Amino acid sequence: MNSQVTAADGTHLRRALELAERGRGRVSPNPLVGAVVVRDGKVIGEGFHAELGGLHAERVALEDCRERGEDPAGATMCVTLEPCAHQGRQPPCTEAILEAGIARVVIASEDPTEKASGRGPGILRDGGVEVAFAAGAEASAARLLNQSFRKHARTGLPLVTLKMAMSLDGQTSTAPGDSRWISGELSRAMVQRWRADSDAIAVGIGTVFADDPLLTVRQASARQPVRIVFDAQARLPLDSRLLASLDQSPVLVVTAPGADPGRVRALEAAAAEILVAGGSTRAERVEAALADLGRRDVTSLFLEGGRTLASAFVAAEQIDVSHTFIAPLLLGSSDIGSVTPGPGRLTALESSAESVGEDTLITARYKEW
Ligand SMILES: NC(=O)c1ccc[n+]([C@@H]2O[C@H](COP(=O)([O-])OP(=O)(O)OC[C@H]3O[C@@H](n4cnc5c(N)ncnc54)[C@H](OP(=O)(O)O)[C@@H]3O)[C@@H](O)[C@H]2O)c1
Repeated sequence: MNSQVTAADGTHLRRALELAERGRGRVSPNPLVGAVVVRDGKVIGEGFHAELGGLHAERVALEDCRERGEDPAGATMCVTLEPCAHQGRQPPCTEAILEAGIARVVIASEDPTEKASGRGPGILRDGGVEVAFAAGAEASAARLLNQSFRKHARTGLPLVTLKMAMSLDGQTSTAPGDSRWISGELSRAMVQRWRADSDAIAVGIGTVFADDPLLTVRQASARQPVRIVFDAQARLPLDSRLLASLDQSPVLVVTAPGADPGRVRALEAAAAEILVAGGSTRAERVEAALADLGRRDVTSLFLEGGRTLASAFVAAEQIDVSHTFIAPLLLGSSDIGSVTPGPGRLTALESSAESVGEDTLITARYKEW
């Protein structure tokens, strides 16, 4: 049975969206999900998916009802993603909802995964539960919340977010080739949060040669993303800070099929993982690498430059979101070039600008999943 979504459902869905956010950085490759159980206008249970392998939001919310001494039978559940109907790391949520006697389920977004795609709502309807799908602001907020999960489910590829920092005259490196301090302290703190939200971080070998970056999240409790270097010829120095910090998180080197076997063996002996990406152009090798990363359950890739690698992603049209910091500096150089040189054009669906300390941050979204 279908039912209409009311204004009160919208309020509870917005609360469920807030709850879902609390799982950020901890549930990938699973989606962020929040759920609220309501009876006679009163919230009797709340929950969110808090960690990979842990209970799903729907079950957490039902447990919460019981802990509060409330019976969820006959209540409405407002949930940000369609309840699952398959056995995964956890049993199907549809079973828990039917067993609890929930009368009505309001869903903010569909699950595009092949094994889901409407099966859960179908099972609920067959079990006599009223099912309603939200539209408008709550539906689009629920889809935005899970862009990496949705892209991975629909294409098998990770969501790619490009971060760049540049001066007012378009420079991405300071004179000695060190880009680390173009943006201000608050901007760099934001970068730390984006890193922590990503499954993987990528740079080109040019950036490793110039900056010898660590690419870790400087927060003790954060999950460390996999660190990826695009390095066709396997030139990553064995004494780089990346390889010296393998105890903090893995390093994966994306090489081309023609890379020197001796250098590849040396990197493997240093405990780096190797991903061989084929293709006749850099853009094709980006596409091959993304497909391989998707198969490894990398659902989000945070691309930190430099501009040669960024341009290959643009040429492959594989940027979903970009964050560009513009710092109040002129770095004046004789070789001012494009930030992302090379072919390719991506037009943003939407963009916004905000001040972050002394910097300006422009965020653009190119695709919606
Ligand atoms: N301001 C910022 O936001 C920012 C961020 C990062 C870096 N930077 C600065 O950018 C500079 C480095 O930029 P860069 O352009 O020289 O280097 P880069 O983009 O970091 O690395 C480029 C190199 O990556 C390798 N690569 C491997 N596979 C590739 C693929 N599929 N597509 C593209 N490249 C691939 C290529 O060398 P092989 O063919 O040998 O593999 C290429 O020369 C540094 O000065 C750094 O400080 C600035």
